[in-house]
Amino acid sequence: MGDDASFERRRLAASPKRATKADADRVIDMLTAAFAKDPVMTWISRRDAKRDQGRRAMFVYLVNKLGLAGDELWTSGDYSAAALWVPPERADLKQPWWDEVIMMPTIISFTGITGLGRVDAFRKSADKHHPKDKPHFYLMTLGVDPRFQGQGLGSAILDATLAKIDAKGLPTYLESSNEKNVPLYKRHGYVVTSEFRPMPDAPPLWGMWRDVKAR
Ligand SMILES: CC(C)(COP(=O)(O)OP(=O)(O)OC[C@H]1O[C@@H](n2cnc3c(N)ncnc32)[C@H](O)[C@@H]1OP(=O)(O)O)[C@@H](O)C(=O)NCCC(=O)NCCS
Repeated sequence: MGDDASFERRRLAASPKRATKADADRVIDMLTAAFAKDPVMTWISRRDAKRDQGRRAMFVYLVNKLGLAGDELWTSGDYSAAALWVPPERADLKQPWWDEVIMMPTIISFTGITGLGRVDAFRKSADKHHPKDKPHFYLMTLGVDPRFQGQGLGSAILDATLAKIDAKGLPTYLESSNEKNVPLYKRHGYVVTSEFRPMPDAPPLWGMWRDVKAR
């Protein structure tokens, strides 16, 4: 903290760029590393030696299918931080049946066959708590390179992307998959709207809502 390099990293996170195909691999690698210890991802993931590979396959899918396609994947110029937002028209995460079929091999490499029930429970319970009455942006993923976590990069990219959404006059929703992150999101104006576990042995998630903020 405090040296020129960390100052530069914070500056880049505070002025993120919209990711393109050329950025995808770097963002996917960073998010795969960032979520290595996430409680919910760990619970859903397969439990064998292919776990990291499976988590990466899931980020390949999310980055390409939701991030690049939705045009709302933002990254620091040095790939230290990224935020994947889903715009209102896709925020319910519903997709046609053929996309569900296309997605299936990715899910299986992420969870293994025996984890399919966990994915189903996760998706159903997340959907049940996801607000449906107001158009909003959905924060699918926020991640910081593990080497630089706790240095203000997550806050910087969150604030910078929220400013863009505030300018559109829209609220936002997210699920925090880690209790550690709840105070961070509260500091950015979120309130907890639900707390739920997809299955009795699953870690908890917190549904969090933020109304548009005048700037
Ligand atoms: C959550 C995350 C994006 C926050 O970004 P960050 O740059 O580490 O956080 P900041 O430095 O801006 O803010 C620090 C706050 O983040 C939270 N936090 C969560 N994970 C943290 C970590 N590994 N290290 C430090 N702070 C963390 C705490 O609330 C902390 O506040 P505190 O210092 O008062 O305890 C980042 O830590 C990360 O990628 N974590 C792993 C993946 C993840 O949990 N993503 C979000 C899923 S909902």
